[in-house]
Amino acid sequence: MGAKYVGVLTAGGDSPGLNAALRGIGKAGLGLYDMQFVGFLDGFRGLMQNRTIRLDEKSLSGILTRGGTILGTSRDKPHKMPVGGKYLDMTDAMMDTYERYHLDALVCLGGGGTQKSALRLKNRGMNIITLPKTIDNDVAMTDVTFGFDTALGIATEAIDRLHSTAHSHHRIVVVEIMGHNTGWLALGSGVAGGADVILIPEIPYNVNEIADAILQRSRGGKRFSIVAVSEGAMPVELAAKKNAVEEKLRKEEDEDKREKLSGELVRLEEERSNSTLALTQNLEKLTGLESRVTILGYLQRGGAPSAADRLLATRLGTACTRLLHEGRYGVMVAARGDGMEPVPLEEVAGKRKTIPMGHPWLESARSVGTCLGD
Ligand code: F6P
Repeated sequence: MGAKYVGVLTAGGDSPGLNAALRGIGKAGLGLYDMQFVGFLDGFRGLMQNRTIRLDEKSLSGILTRGGTILGTSRDKPHKMPVGGKYLDMTDAMMDTYERYHLDALVCLGGGGTQKSALRLKNRGMNIITLPKTIDNDVAMTDVTFGFDTALGIATEAIDRLHSTAHSHHRIVVVEIMGHNTGWLALGSGVAGGADVILIPEIPYNVNEIADAILQRSRGGKRFSIVAVSEGAMPVELAAKKNAVEEKLRKEEDEDKREKLSGELVRLEEERSNSTLALTQNLEKLTGLESRVTILGYLQRGGAPSAADRLLATRLGTACTRLLHEGRYGVMVAARGDGMEPVPLEEVAGKRKTIPMGHPWLESARSVGTCLGD
């Protein structure tokens, strides 16, 4: 049966296009199907604590172009909620709220983590539909996520601007671009902005190869270089250590030993988070060229969504409402070409869309002479 009472929440890191999607879901639901919407504040935490706002014509007006999310967000997970200094499974409390509002369905807008949490709530008995958002573009089973295009534009513009200062000072400029686990944003903006070196988590890098590529440019008369690096990219040595510890952790059953290995992973993660700075210093040493680092950080998530993201978020939002009306639950509304496809949550949760080796963007980058650090 089609939904009438619908809950909505936004979870995970914020992303341009969230408000456009909320507006799409809400306006289509109010206007076409007489649905009623309640918005839960700050992700799954608001669902647990029963903190809400009404999503009506008034609150959904004027938000299409606004960045962030009018609902607020958090990275809290239903089964690992920080409560009173402990992490507790609060799925039942969320089910209570769902029942208190007599909801027919709950829509969760989020990235990879949200898809997993949503599946958990589905298995607890809720009717769930999700939408794929994240500037990282790493949600499985969808062509693209909303937020990505906006961040791509921001990162590309940043690379453009860094070009003129790098050129004037004959420097290496290393620019760190978001993407904890996947390199879509660094690769896309690196190709679009003409970065000379692009480093992504999918391809561990060799700092000597990068230095050689820069020195070769230098010998050819190009006395500056732009290095676009994903925050998750790391040198081969560190990647090998991390893989080895993860492999051991997968096999280890002894609790004490598991704890030790987890601690080791945290330490390696810290090393990784400092690797952009270390890379910049190493490149200066190896090439003799003055080097600077720029970390774009949260700039990439802020501000108004691009036209493409507004369109995508509105498209997926209104498609979601159609699915609500048809009572088709337990799915993520995936972008497929110009249309959409409902994909069962089981096929999305726990998976990540990394850049496949041989992806056309990688081939193009190599074809124009970009160094990928390998
Ligand atoms: O939105 C995804 C992302 O931008 C990642 O690239 C990044 O690692 C992460 O969010 C950081 O966000 P936060 O500090 O909000 O957890």
